[in-house]
Amino acid sequence: MAQAESTRRVFLIGFMGAGKTTVGRELARRRRARFVDLDDLIEQREGQTIAQIFASAGEQAFRRIESAVLLSLLQENAGGGDLVVALGGGAFIQPENRKTIKRAAGTTVLLQASLSELQRRCQNDESRRIRPLAKERDRFAELFASRQALYELAEFHVATENRSIEQVVNAIQEILSATRPEVKQ
Ligand code: S3P
Repeated sequence: MAQAESTRRVFLIGFMGAGKTTVGRELARRRRARFVDLDDLIEQREGQTIAQIFASAGEQAFRRIESAVLLSLLQENAGGGDLVVALGGGAFIQPENRKTIKRAAGTTVLLQASLSELQRRCQNDESRRIRPLAKERDRFAELFASRQALYELAEFHVATENRSIEQVVNAIQEILSATRPEVKQ
């Protein structure tokens, strides 16, 4: 993937309920960048909801689709154009996706929140309907614990609890203006 040097690709990482989509949309608006929610893109390309993909094909198949859609998004964007991407909660856990993001010289930002706050945001009927992995409280907690070390590989970590969307976006903007991505290839 050839990289246009001035292009900034920001990837928001974090567990279900961390606010990746809401924050990402506002961050993109402020930066006049294109916003992509990876789950929405998967649903558009597959013509099925995430829940339907999990139910009909299983999680492993979903992970393959997720990696392929991420790769094709970044291939399409290789010529340039600022991007803000809200990843699904499991995307950054896959080594292949971390490599894809690195090759695209992506800036990775982890949105942090405590388990109790994420449970509060995700353990309602609507969220459980949309998110297959939020259905069971115990599984949600186990997944949260098992993913922490890999989430922490994100370059920048931003706390979200007791902060408004605007405050979180401001914190990310400060980080972005103080840093430039390392351009690879
Ligand atoms: C998942 C998170 C979801 C979605 C899928 C799997 C996960 O995205 O990709 O249900 O493995 O954590 P959100 O983090 O946007 O809810």
